[in-house]
Amino acid sequence: MNSLSRPRKLYSCFLLIAASAVSTIATLASAQTPVAPPAPPPHVHHQNPKPVNLHVLPKDIDPNSLHELMHGYSAQLGVQCAYCHAPSPTGKGLDFASDSKPEKSTARHMMSMTEDINSKYIAKSLPAEAPPQVACGTCHRGNAKPDAFVTPSHEHDGH
Ligand code: HEC
Ligand code: HEC
Repeated sequence: MNSLSRPRKLYSCFLLIAASAVSTIATLASAQTPVAPPAPPPHVHHQNPKPVNLHVLPKDIDPNSLHELMHGYSAQLGVQCAYCHAPSPTGKGLDFASDSKPEKSTARHMMSMTEDINSKYIAKSLPAEAPPQVACGTCHRGNAKPDAFVTPSHEHDGH
């Protein structure tokens, strides 16, 4: 019975020794190189925080889906996050929950409008099977301010 757990114990004992050896080496190394800059933190996959100021999207939206959606808006409008989101008061990064940029409130109206176009009109006027969806990019085409469509002038021959 004990024979099964024994190698495990030995192994974890070895790990402990190895870990302390590594930290000793690390301490020695840092003691020898006093001017070495601090090592950059290891790249951990950023966990998106829970949103706190949603008025159009469902409040319980998965933070990662929200992030995807935001990347979609940016691409469809050809802008960066900072086009709608104000800078953080700390001067580092953006304050995503802030409502101080007018573009953010315009975007909220645009989101409701796009949702209405799809649910009230597209879904009711086009074939039920896989109706096409109107998205920001349908109008914006990669621009924050979509160009006005200019009706091609039709010239009459001999006039
Ligand atoms: C076209 C404007 C626009 C762009 C571009 C945009 N966002 Fe947003 N974002 C919004 C709006 C509008 C909301 C609020 C939605 C609501 O009220 O339901 C929001 C909400 C958020 C939130 C939730 C904040 C909170 O705590 O309530 C995060 C996080 C966020 N955006 C991140 C991003 C990131 C990251 C990018 C760039 C990749 C980005 N956004 C680009 C308009 C935009
Ligand atoms: C039915 C067409 C249409 C759709 C769909 C649409 N927009 Fe717009 N949007 C416009 C028009 C037109 C303007 C005004 C552009 C101008 O000022 O010249 C505009 C303006 C905006 C602006 C303000 C730009 C500025 O700098 O003043 C934002 C932000 C915006 N839209 C975001 C969105 C987002 C996000 C979506 C998708 C959720 C969306 N729009 C979907 C037509 C549309």
